[in-house]
Parts: sequence; C-alpha cells; structure tokens
Amino acid sequence: MAQMTQSADATLPRGFRSAEQGWPRLDRIPHPPRRVPLIGDVVGANVRTPLQDSMRIAADLGPIFRRKGFGKEIVFVWGADLAAELADESRFAKHVGLGVANLRPVAGDGLFTAYNHEPNWQLAHDILAPGFSREAMEGYHPLMLDVAGQLMAAWDTSEAAGRSVDVPGDMTKLTLETIARTGFGHDFGSFERERLHPFVTAMVGALSFAQRRNVVPPLLSSLLRGAEKRNAADRAYLNRTVDDVIAARRASGGGPGDLLDRMLEVAHPETGERLAPENIRRQVITFLVAGHETTSGALSFALHYLAQNPDVLATAQEEVDRVWGDAPVPAYQQVAKLRYLRRVLDESLRLWPTAPAFAREAITDTTLGGTHPMRRGAWALVLTTMLHRDPAAWGENPETFDPDRFAPQAVRARPAHVFKPFGTGARACIGRQFALHEATLVLGLLLRRYDLRPEPGYRLKVAERLTLMPDGLRLHLTRR
Ligand code: HEM
Repeated sequence: MAQMTQSADATLPRGFRSAEQGWPRLDRIPHPPRRVPLIGDVVGANVRTPLQDSMRIAADLGPIFRRKGFGKEIVFVWGADLAAELADESRFAKHVGLGVANLRPVAGDGLFTAYNHEPNWQLAHDILAPGFSREAMEGYHPLMLDVAGQLMAAWDTSEAAGRSVDVPGDMTKLTLETIARTGFGHDFGSFERERLHPFVTAMVGALSFAQRRNVVPPLLSSLLRGAEKRNAADRAYLNRTVDDVIAARRASGGGPGDLLDRMLEVAHPETGERLAPENIRRQVITFLVAGHETTSGALSFALHYLAQNPDVLATAQEEVDRVWGDAPVPAYQQVAKLRYLRRVLDESLRLWPTAPAFAREAITDTTLGGTHPMRRGAWALVLTTMLHRDPAAWGENPETFDPDRFAPQAVRARPAHVFKPFGTGARACIGRQFALHEATLVLGLLLRRYDLRPEPGYRLKVAERLTLMPDGLRLHLTRR
C-alpha cells in the first residue's frame, strides 16, 4: 500500500480545516470575481447544484481555481497535467473531507469514509478485497441475472401497458437488490413495491443532508433543526436495517461465503485480526450505499445516451445479438466480450462520473504544477466532470457523446490519469469490477430485449446529492 499520512491533530478531522492552512500562495490561484466579504463566492450559487456551479466557474477560471463559501475555501483542480500529479501516490493520498467527512456519522470508519491513518481501513481492505476477485464475481453472476430478470418482468408489464418507465427509480431498485443479495443475502423486495424501499429514502436523505452541510453555513445549519431531526431518524433507520440483516445471518449460522460472511468470519491473513461488530455495521451500510447509488446513476446516464443516439443504440444492439446469440442467459465470460457496450458505459461515465469529485492531500511539502506550493496536509478537490472534459486530453468537442473515444487505439493515444470515474490509488473504488460487470450485463440484457425511445422534448437535467443522477428521465420501450 502507498504511504499514508497521520493527522497532525487527531481530534480535528482534516476536512474541517481551512484550505488556507496548507496553501501558502493561494493568491496565485484564481477565484470568481464577485467575492462577498465574509460570505465568499456565493453570487449565483445554487445550493442544489454546487457541482454544476463549480463546472461553470471552472470553464471561466481554468485548470485550478478556488471557491469560498461561508468561511470554507476549497481549491479545485481539473487540468489533466495537475490531476496526473495529484494521482502520484508518492506525493498525495486520499483526503477525507467535505462530503466524505460529513458521511462519518453514518458510515464511521467504514472503507469509504475511513481516515488513511485508521487501522480499520487496511484491515477491512485486506479482508474484503478477495470478495471482488474474478472468482467472487463469477459467483455473483447468477444472482445479478435473477435481479435483472425482475427488472425485465416489470419493464415487460410497462411496455405491454404502453407506459414509459422511470429509469433512475428502476435502476436504483435493481442496483440496491443486486448489492443486497450478492453481498449480504438480503432481499429488500424492491420490485414488489410501487415506491422505493424506505432504506433508499433514508439513504438519499442522509446523502442530501451531507451535501447540504458542505454548502450551508454551520450557523444556519444549526437553525435547521427539522433537517437535523430528520437526519437522525434516517441514520437510525439505516442502523436498524443493517442490524437486522446481520442478526439474520448470525442466526442462520452462515451464508454462501459472500461479503457479509467475510466481514463476520474471516480473519486478516497475516495478523489474524477480525472486524469488530460496530465496524461491521459501518461496512454493511457503506457497501449498501456505495454499492448501488453510483451504479444506478451510471446505468441511467448510459440508457439516456443510448436512447438519444439511435446509431449508437443500433451498433450496441448488433453487438449484443452477435456476441450472445440465442443463449437464453449470457454466461459470466460473455459479459466482458461486449466491448462496444463497455465503451458506451465508459463514455457515459466520462461525461457524468456519478461520484463527481474526489479529494487528494499532500503527504509531504510539495509544489503542484511547479507553481503552487502545498504544505503537508493541504488538499484539493479533483473535479472529475471537468477533468473528463479537458480539451488537452479529450479534444475540441468534449461535450459530444462518442463511445469511440474508448476504442483501444484512442485510449493508448491519451495520457495516463485523465479518466478517473473510480478515483485513484490505494483508495480507489474497490467495487469497480462489480459495477462494470453488473452494468454491462444489465445494459446487454435490456438492449437485447427492447428498443428505447426518449420522451419527446426531454433535456438532460442532472440532480446532485453527493452522487449524480439524471433527473426525471423516462424512456419508452418496444419489445424487439
Ligand atoms: C459506477 C459505479 C461506481 C462509481 C462511479 C464509484 C466511484 C468511486 C470513487 C470515485 C471512489 C473513490 C472516492 C474517493 O477517493 O474519495 C470509490 C470508492 C469506493 N467504492 Fe465505488 N464506485 C462505484 C461502484 C461501487 C460498488 C458497486 C461498490 C461496492 C460493491 C463500491 C464501493 C466502494 C468503496 C467501499 C469505496 C472506498 C474504497 C476505499 O477507500 O478503500 N463502489 N468509488
């Protein structure tokens, strides 16, 4: 594992320190022109769309800039060269701050929210990583197929009734069921319900609350007692749900060797240490949340772009028909053979990486881009949505949806570290292969079965709640 830092003051999470502390020459980094004293760069800011506001500011200010809101100043980086430097694990590591730190009351020292110096990160990483091996993935494949079958049964009913389908809603049902069943042997029964499971509602509440804490001043947020109360109720519901899942597994005397079995039964291969019960609770919440929300968004954006680009849809359908033939269900090995469909997915994740930013901190005093001195502990937010639009890496029309950007030759011609939907380094996404297998499988099954048409006049609107999701996306289906 790469070298990890110790917090200088363990009682003060780094996420709550001002960026100025580590950036001795902030004056070299541009900020928006109309800065309001004490409050900061709030002119034109929308608390519901902080990410898209930052994208607009980025386009004006260039590859590195800063934004200040209510005392917190954040340095954003999106230029390909600078982002490549931040990916250098000998100089930088994950920074747990902002939205990620705000999730600590929910996810504690679970894998995603653990500080680099917390021993539970390495322990859980080593115990859980084999749960994402090729063999493990092959074991999840039949369950993934079952859940996709439930989705298609629901879509068949909508199609027969001439109803359009709620894409983000249905993808969220699918991905929640998939991670719950493959990882924890739990069935939320999402497809038997009209509305989303209360677990999802509580989770979305917790994510939105964490996001709002980034953009609402602490003073005001303490006045929002109602929101605090709802958040406490959401957290309690999430805890109760996972406690029930864990209790059911313990009572059953063991499962099929899935993630939950690993958490409960597997000891660290070298130290023999095990995960503590409170940490297991945090890991289950982490995996249920991290394991479905982002994949649901990725599938939804891909379906949007497929429906909007009939040529791309036809090419992808031709590939699925050719590669899968008449096999009633695709075998595990046949999923990775859908190379064009993977490009569609990658290109959707390029334009809308559903975890749209990640933070990196200096693990030693260093200078970014030869110009910006950073003291150890100084951090910056990599704005992935803009890194994925940097013309230096992606050409003059980065807004154009073009899956051929991910053809092997095109990938080889690009510099390293310009495509980062899954983050970078030791703390990059542990579920990457899981998400890619699940999403490619489901897209393949859907394209083999349906033609997709957009709602007339739909224009993509992106909803933000720490992750990204196409807002109000509905599609019309026709059985092929
Ligand atoms: C398209 C789907 C997904 C995207 C875009 C995504 C994105 C990311 C990103 C950007 C990070 C790094 C965050 C940071 O540096 O702060 C991350 C970490 C993580 N992801 Fe994912 N993810 C996806 C799917 C999944 C799935 C399916 C799982 C679990 C089954 C998962 C579990 C995790 C965990 C546990 C971490 C923390 C890893 C660590 O710090 O050791 N993710 N993900």
